Amino acid sequence: RVMRDLTGISTLESRLKSEMGIARVVVVPGDSDVSPWVKNELGNACATSMKHRLSSDNIIAVTGGTTMAAVAETLTPEFGEKNLLFVPARGGLGEDVNNQANTVCAIMADKTNSRHRVFYVPDQVSSEIYESFIKEPLIYEVLGLIKSASMVLHGIGDAITMAERRSTSPEDMEKIIRRNAVGEAFGYYFNEAGEIVHKVLTIGLQLDDLTEVDTIIAVAGGASKAKAIRAYMKQAPRSTILITDEGAAKNLVQGF
Ligand code: BG6
Repeated sequence: RVMRDLTGISTLESRLKSEMGIARVVVVPGDSDVSPWVKNELGNACATSMKHRLSSDNIIAVTGGTTMAAVAETLTPEFGEKNLLFVPARGGLGEDVNNQANTVCAIMADKTNSRHRVFYVPDQVSSEIYESFIKEPLIYEVLGLIKSASMVLHGIGDAITMAERRSTSPEDMEKIIRRNAVGEAFGYYFNEAGEIVHKVLTIGLQLDDLTEVDTIIAVAGGASKAKAIRAYMKQAPRSTILITDEGAAKNLVQGF
């Protein structure tokens, strides 16, 4: 505690919490853009928050990304003493396999001796595919589990980084740039005012579904993500817990 106060981390946490109007902010020391090990610290902090929030039965919906992959590595068998089922929050095929929500869920289940379900649907689908996919019994069943999640763990990305990482069409790319998107979460792109300026048609959790979720933990760090985090938090449910790092936090407070 004393160490944290000396370094000003507690002050950062309470300032960010009140400026963003969310439930809780946890800041870990360092900047994950500069020091890769800081991502492990984000993972540890997320695991601690999860532990406090687990009930006896939990359906945990998880997005993909390198940050969520780091969270997965920090989970231990102790978590599995509670009943846990990990499900991908959305379709994720299209991203690098290591970053896919399916992979992250499989690792989380493995580390905690728990169960997981796979959701093999593309990250972006056409409306025709969307309509026919959701009629598939297996997809429909997993979709039901996703929609009844009691906990959601998700990443937040810089808009352009995410658009480039996904196979975004030139038209959508142009739209994302023209409408000044700065942040991305759950396939939604946000401008600095927190308005949705583009949305990937995806099967799975939608932003509106979050209002039904008891515990939402967003994990994102690195100075380069400050704008993205600020933008998304304008839309985020007030119950959101943000786990971030000093690099992002210091940039974030400058903007308030
Ligand atoms: C993706 C999610 O898998 O990870 C995005 O679909 C999120 O919503 C992104 O923004 C974050 O990735 P990373 O690697 O920066 O943690």
